[in-house]
Amino acid sequence: MVEIRGQQSTDWRDVYAMRIATAGALPYIRPDWVREELAKPTERTWPLVAVAELEGRPTVVARANIQLGWGRRGHVATLTLEQHPNVGDEGSRSVLQEAVHVAEDWFNTRRLQTTLSSTDPAHIALFESLGFTQEARLRQSVRIAGELIDEIVLARLSGDAARLARSRGPAPAASTDRRRPRPHITIRGGSIDDWEAQHAIWSQPEVIWGTMQMPYASADWNRQRIQERAPARFWPLMAEVDGKVVGITGLQWDERNRMHVGHLGMMVHADYQAMGVGSALLQAAIELAENWMGMTRLQLEVYTDNARALALYTRHGFEVEGLHRADSFRDRQYVDTLVMGRLRNA
Ligand SMILES: CC(C)(COP(=O)(O)OP(=O)(O)OC[C@H]1O[C@@H](n2cnc3c(N)ncnc32)[C@H](O)[C@@H]1OP(=O)(O)O)[C@@H](O)C(=O)NCCC(=O)NCCS
Repeated sequence: MVEIRGQQSTDWRDVYAMRIATAGALPYIRPDWVREELAKPTERTWPLVAVAELEGRPTVVARANIQLGWGRRGHVATLTLEQHPNVGDEGSRSVLQEAVHVAEDWFNTRRLQTTLSSTDPAHIALFESLGFTQEARLRQSVRIAGELIDEIVLARLSGDAARLARSRGPAPAASTDRRRPRPHITIRGGSIDDWEAQHAIWSQPEVIWGTMQMPYASADWNRQRIQERAPARFWPLMAEVDGKVVGITGLQWDERNRMHVGHLGMMVHADYQAMGVGSALLQAAIELAENWMGMTRLQLEVYTDNARALALYTRHGFEVEGLHRADSFRDRQYVDTLVMGRLRNA
């Protein structure tokens, strides 16, 4: 018999035991971290657990966490599943089924996604049996015991995201013309003092169209976002023309066994697009990541209809690794995203 209930902070010992026994888990995970994580629920996470009798006592045998998106990804939630290795699939299947029901029928989630190791066919099959489809293969995205392993992204669409055709609209007029005269471009490190220039660029309709930025973001809110970015995991680069900031990119990376992976996002002032600014920024970010930080995988996401960005990334060695359906929302329509990766040694 399996009981499904909301996670409690007192479950931390079981969750810790489950986590350290999972294949591919980091060695020497600190129990304190797990205890702290369970003691501090956040507004956008909703963890469920499956409890079954194990060695004579009720034990958490599986856990499904719903991580809710916001803004233009408010319809998206990420599901993570953890399973006790010494028990069968019953608890995992039940907790996962219940998590799908809660996410879709209570939180109105329209895209549920998960990322699994390619070396875990049992869980891939479990998600597939619940209507998830494989969408992308992220090459060499995690290091497990000395080996770089690919990961598989799976997603399940529901409601209008599953039914409606998704946006393939052309970019706004300002960014459709090709190859304009190339100005002299300088690249430098970013600073908190650049926040006003960043706010101005983030607020342009052409930039909002191609990114996850929100219309009508307040200056205070953007300033706070820039100030709060952890410097230890984020490296901003600015492009300048005639002393004016005209383009921004940021290299972000994960910790521990994902430190070899860098994530990039970029945007260029609408008046300076198609002049080589994006190219100069990307070149600098690649050099920083690969030549100075030893990263071997760079990753980014781009809307399927963003022809200019796609052309730029392809020219710089990024390859399409998959398509995330209904991954974002733009002007009343869902938009698909291509996930692209560049491997240093490929
Ligand atoms: C996407 C973006 C970052 C690219 O930067 P950029 O400075 O405009 O790009 P560049 O001029 O360096 O290079 C663009 C390339 O695409 C080509 N291009 C331009 N318009 C194009 C179009 N409509 N279709 C196909 N290719 C196009 C250019 O010819 C150029 O290639 P080339 O150097 O071989 O000639 C920028 O346009 C931008 O900020 N757009 C809005 C926000 C956004 O979409 N960000 C990306 C999120 S993934």
